[in-house]
Amino acid sequence: MYRTHTCGELRLSDKGQSVTLAGWVQTIRKFGSITFIDLRDRYGITQLLLKENMNHLLDENPIGREFVLQVNGQVTARSNKNPDLPTGDIEIDITTYTILNKSQTPPFTIQDDTDGGDDLRMRFRYLDLRRNTVKKNLELRYRVSRIVRNYLDSHGFMDIETPYLIKSTPEGARDFVVPSRMNPGQFYALPQSPQTLKQLLMVSGYDKYYQIVRCFRDEDLRADRQPEFTQIDCEMSFVEQEDILRVFEGMIKEVLREIKGMEDPHPFPRMSWEDAMRDYGNDKPDIRFGMKLVNLDILAKKKGFRVFDEAELVVAITAKGCSEYSRKQLDELTAWVKRPQIGMMGLAYIKCHTDNTYKSSFDKFFDEKGLKEMASACQAQPGDLVLILAGKEAKTRKAMSELRLEMGNRSGLRKKEEFRALWVTDFPLFEYSEEERRWTALHHPFTSPRKEQIALMDQPDHFGEIKANAYDMVLNGNEIGGGSIRIFQKELQEKMFKALGMGEEEAQEKFGFLMGAFEYGAPPHGGIAFGFDRLCAILGGSESIRDFIAFPKNNSGRDMMLDAPALIDEKQLKELRLDTVNE
Ligand code: AMO
Repeated sequence: MYRTHTCGELRLSDKGQSVTLAGWVQTIRKFGSITFIDLRDRYGITQLLLKENMNHLLDENPIGREFVLQVNGQVTARSNKNPDLPTGDIEIDITTYTILNKSQTPPFTIQDDTDGGDDLRMRFRYLDLRRNTVKKNLELRYRVSRIVRNYLDSHGFMDIETPYLIKSTPEGARDFVVPSRMNPGQFYALPQSPQTLKQLLMVSGYDKYYQIVRCFRDEDLRADRQPEFTQIDCEMSFVEQEDILRVFEGMIKEVLREIKGMEDPHPFPRMSWEDAMRDYGNDKPDIRFGMKLVNLDILAKKKGFRVFDEAELVVAITAKGCSEYSRKQLDELTAWVKRPQIGMMGLAYIKCHTDNTYKSSFDKFFDEKGLKEMASACQAQPGDLVLILAGKEAKTRKAMSELRLEMGNRSGLRKKEEFRALWVTDFPLFEYSEEERRWTALHHPFTSPRKEQIALMDQPDHFGEIKANAYDMVLNGNEIGGGSIRIFQKELQEKMFKALGMGEEEAQEKFGFLMGAFEYGAPPHGGIAFGFDRLCAILGGSESIRDFIAFPKNNSGRDMMLDAPALIDEKQLKELRLDTVNE
């Protein structure tokens, strides 16, 4: 037997027991003639005491950091207790030890506050994973997956695996492709999601499907995106939007209850896409705080201030209690909105002083009354600061939504331990892409339009008005899930493809299998998919999903540890009938 106990297990009540432990050496400290070792495994840390009589052994078989040891000894009470460790009341008085394996000096310290930079830790991810903080994240991930599985199981869902080598699924990113040796010149695409497959399972009668499944998307990476990520993917038959919202609100509430101890999470509010865009400037509002956007078009324009007069949109937010922002702080905020990521030309403001006077960055063009009118439209009180952006509509709204979040951060309103979820509903079905000069599906092309608007599917002039039966779940300003009620009739699906500018032949070639299936009794159905990594990251209080994935990629999509992607040899290329071009 390698061990009788784990390194996180022994307590004062075990005093006197003879035990065998195995684990990694976290630290070694010498105090005069005695030596202390912290031994670590997945379960915790236990202090080992090596008395003077062990010194000759230590000289013969020196121990270093991250060595793998097996030790025998007796549990004793510690004179110098450590209240920060669950095992802090005891130590093991060692009688013998065996070095099971040596270790090189690790390239960074295996501690919560490590000295290792990002790249180094990614290269040695197997060492990084030994750190407590990373381990806690993976434990959280596993707990969330168990809660989700139990919940879905108890609601009659069946876990069904779907293939990874498939045909393109349109989720709006580029596909990762895999060449087929047996079908030269042909390629599989890795699923951006199992969307079409889960719909086919509905046609087959598996009316409640789920899968915690890997998805692959070749897109630009951010803190909340990875090229391969995991979805909690679900689909149901014979349901309406309301059924889906109920089941999955229940699932996320269960997760919040179990993981965050929220006794009775509030019912998730519903917000239409239009309201979200108007009040928060984006479709994933962080509702932990107010600071809603206020349109100042009427009050600000036609007063002779060109910045406002020439703008498509003048929009404001009110930062409570910030009227005393200094020149320096305001310059800093102005520089912040001028950064290329935000791209505004400048920032205007009104300071609402506590003595009921107003001071703005555009005093020349507005008298006290004008400023007061704007401040009161923004519901600003004495002591508040009104921040104003003006410019092209979409850009300005987006910039203001970012500034709102930034001000939320600066004012400490985005509390990590507060969790506020909501549903955003009534999305438009289509979005016009200036770049492609055509209408694209805002969600994906399998999303159904509102029943009463189906007639508009033949009238391109009205595409912009059509609303979808689609919904997103948003948690603390992050889109954690999205789904829709699907189209399940062939004719409507054909209309949809046509609206997206896809010819009949192309639609047949790409999605003939789905439309064919719709001819064999497809039931009404709908579903949703949650970003599992994202959900875990938010619950764990982190911005980055990487911390919650055992072996993630870096921002250029590289696996630093495996050094992938990599070149493949000539023989493999030949077999696949592939040639690479040197640039
Ligand atoms: P969607 O594309 O909205 O919907 O994806 C669902 C959820 O997956 C997460 N997500 C990601 N997480 C990490 N890295 C990425 N690159 C990434 N992309 C998306 C988000 C998102 O809300 N088939 C549909 C679902 C459906 O209609 O049922 C779909 O995939 O949290």
